[in-house]
Amino acid sequence: PRRFALIPAAGVGARMGARIPKQYMAVAGKPMLHHALETFAAHPRIAHTFVVVSAGDGWIDELLTPELAQRATVLRVGGATRQESVFNGLVEMRAAAGDADWVLVHDAARPGLDAELIDRLLDALADDEVGGLLALPVVDTLKRASAEGRSEQTVPRAGLWAAQTPQMFRYALLRRALNEAAEQGRIGAITDDASAIEMLGLLPKLVEGSPRNLKVTLAQDAALAEFFLKG
Ligand code: CTP
Ligand code: MG
Repeated sequence: PRRFALIPAAGVGARMGARIPKQYMAVAGKPMLHHALETFAAHPRIAHTFVVVSAGDGWIDELLTPELAQRATVLRVGGATRQESVFNGLVEMRAAAGDADWVLVHDAARPGLDAELIDRLLDALADDEVGGLLALPVVDTLKRASAEGRSEQTVPRAGLWAAQTPQMFRYALLRRALNEAAEQGRIGAITDDASAIEMLGLLPKLVEGSPRNLKVTLAQDAALAEFFLKG
């Protein structure tokens, strides 16, 4: 099967509050985006990698070495939301490289992804009709807050997972799912690719991920990502 990786990297990193978009901040000696990009580009089971950046991005060219450019293509079609960036990337990747059976969508802000996690996902989904995602069983005790900020209820954590990426779906299915979510005006309610698939009534498979694959959202997350990358 032909598999493409798609890295949405068109965000501004508002919650990080750095001077540059967080995907270009250095983590363990390299821009954050560089880690996942190299991991996919070096992976023998990934045919090609696409990175979606915003039209005015001034950092990506420096990052894409000639060697990396043979295995990865930049698409300057970032949208206003992650979902729009992913959808635009799906449209443009076909124009650039033809049909794919599968696409693995991965946040630029998850530098800890490694080849073993990619293999785990590919192996678990090889014969799957739908696809699935890396995720971790929730370990915290969960509280539902009242309007006054008091603990109203403990939510049983059994059966709850925290979603990670990559999220891997059949190309045509993911494109249809995101298209339908947009047409129904529900794109704003979606924060990952799997939720668009769920809206079609399909059930993505949960594949155990890893703490090292955390998403860097706030300033303190960068130090933890660095710890995993150096360890
Ligand atoms: N992303 C994107 N296009 C957008 C928004 C986000 O491609 N319009 C990408 C980000 O670059 C990131 C991934 O989606 O790799 C996950 O999003 P998130 O962690 O929320 O990053 P930001 O949107 O940049 O951060 P924030 O929400 O704090 O502004
Ligand atoms: Mg965001």
